[in-house]
Amino acid sequence: MESPALISSIFFFTFLLRTSLATTFTIKNNCPYTVWPGTLNGSGSAQLSSTGFQLSPGESFSLSTSAPWSGRFWGRTGCSTDASGRFSCATGDCASGAVACNGAGGNPPVSLAEFTLVTGGGQDNYDLSLVDGFNLPVSIVPQGGSNGCQTTTCAANVNSVCPAELAVKDQSGNVIACKSACEAFGSPQYCCTESYSTPQTCPPTNYSEIFKGQCPQAYSYAYDDANGSLYTCVSPSGYVITFCP
Ligand SMILES: *[C@@H]1O[C@H](CO)[C@@H](O)[C@H](O)[C@H]1NC(C)=O
Ligand SMILES: *[C@@H]1O[C@H](CO)[C@@H](O)[C@H](O)[C@H]1NC(C)=O
Ligand SMILES: *[C@@H]1O[C@H](CO)[C@@H](O)[C@H](O)[C@H]1NC(C)=O
Repeated sequence: MESPALISSIFFFTFLLRTSLATTFTIKNNCPYTVWPGTLNGSGSAQLSSTGFQLSPGESFSLSTSAPWSGRFWGRTGCSTDASGRFSCATGDCASGAVACNGAGGNPPVSLAEFTLVTGGGQDNYDLSLVDGFNLPVSIVPQGGSNGCQTTTCAANVNSVCPAELAVKDQSGNVIACKSACEAFGSPQYCCTESYSTPQTCPPTNYSEIFKGQCPQAYSYAYDDANGSLYTCVSPSGYVITFCP
């Protein structure tokens, strides 16, 4: 028979593992319309238990993962299933043909919530990115944790100030997403490529400043690290990701 000390050690370490490794993502739809969130694991990280699901207004859904983990979340809008049974979305579509994205990312323009979770009391990193454009307002609120753990939010509707040359419109002419200048024009100056491939040679542009002006806490272009867009938190129990915060 095992000694009580060994048994309690096993329970203690199981407890430690659970509390230090499990991170719960709660995705909430605060928009007045349905949103179909998508999830994508990063390189070497396990796929989450769901890669896509539907949230009616006010609904939320939780997923857990174990650190180390990296990946991203986004929202899809204007989704429907056609006569042949193929599911697609007007924005953020992952082109899987189904509600589950199954390893495919969201097509730009799409607002992203990005995470790198670490173990052993290290710092998780999280951020909101408009580098691939904007489709939905979104926020990240860490739950508990220490050493930072600030909320990052992009609550503004960038679509409402999107310049015509970046705008994606629906059939009625409403702006439903706003492209990055890189996606719209493909030029090195906007994409931070070729002679613009360093933070020093790729300063903000009149286009990235539109995104930054609306959502100062989100990345507005590839080298937008200067201004506290990357957030850190040590050992939170999880994160709440809200669309239309
Ligand atoms: C995501 O997870 C799946 C399943 O675990 C895996 O096949 C895939 O390689 C992962 N993606 C990346 C980029 O590592
Ligand atoms: C941004 O600058 C470019 C040229 O530098 C100009 O053609 C374009 O109209 C400007 N766009 C906005 C939205 O200011
Ligand atoms: C940081 O953001 C603030 C508020 O959006 C802005 O006024 C300031 O110019 C930014 N600084 C840099 C270095 O981008």
